[in-house]
Amino acid sequence: MSTYFTPVLTTERLVLRPLKTDDAAGLFAIFSDPAVVRFWSAEAWTDISFAETAIARALEGYRDETDIHFAVELVRGGQLIGTVKLHHFFNQNHRCELGYAVASAHWGKGYASEAIEAALDHGFREVGLNRVEADIDPRNEASGRVLEKLGFRKEGYMPQRWLVHGQYADTVNYGLLRSYWDERKAVRG
Ligand SMILES: CC(C)(COP(=O)(O)OP(=O)(O)OC[C@H]1O[C@@H](n2cnc3c(N)ncnc32)[C@H](O)[C@@H]1OP(=O)(O)O)[C@@H](O)C(=O)NCCC(=O)NCCS
Repeated sequence: MSTYFTPVLTTERLVLRPLKTDDAAGLFAIFSDPAVVRFWSAEAWTDISFAETAIARALEGYRDETDIHFAVELVRGGQLIGTVKLHHFFNQNHRCELGYAVASAHWGKGYASEAIEAALDHGFREVGLNRVEADIDPRNEASGRVLEKLGFRKEGYMPQRWLVHGQYADTVNYGLLRSYWDERKAVRG
């Protein structure tokens, strides 16, 4: 098993790279949008200091190689449009969790699918993961669609797991095994 180093990955339209200090304004623009945190048990950021704290934590994660945390930027123009994170690694079990967000102005263009695909490919092929888990609010249909397009399977349902903006919210548990990933890649080439 490798350590959890965050490399630079390139896809057709995106660059996935480590966050850096001067991403604070770009990150704040994404996570200060209530639409982005609509299904999260956290409020939208109200001050740039939230972004600075998040970046400081990411930099610690890079230093300690505990999380693979990508900033996602457009190849064309270099704008920061989202983040993808492989985190909560269980080294012994070759397993981790997946988190992601895309700025709402860029939804529906396939960017989440493209970025997450690159991150997962890195996780299965380079890091040696066997299983990736995601849990989402069942009302978050775009997120469920992204996971299912990438080959994740629904594995469970946990009622009232989170308190989301003052209301209990359910969770759908999704899982992706390396064997599903390899099969999907073999079919698609
Ligand atoms: C979930 C999220 C990352 C998707 O980003 P995106 O770049 O728009 O995703 P993509 O364009 O790759 O794919 C979205 C898919 O969902 C579909 N979709 C969008 N809205 C939908 C809805 N209301 N119902 C059903 N499907 C929907 C799109 O049509 C697309 O599927 P398709 O390729 O088959 O047409 C984005 O909405 C987001 O950042 N949301 C807020 C943060 C979040 O919820 N993160 C994940 C959960 S922790």
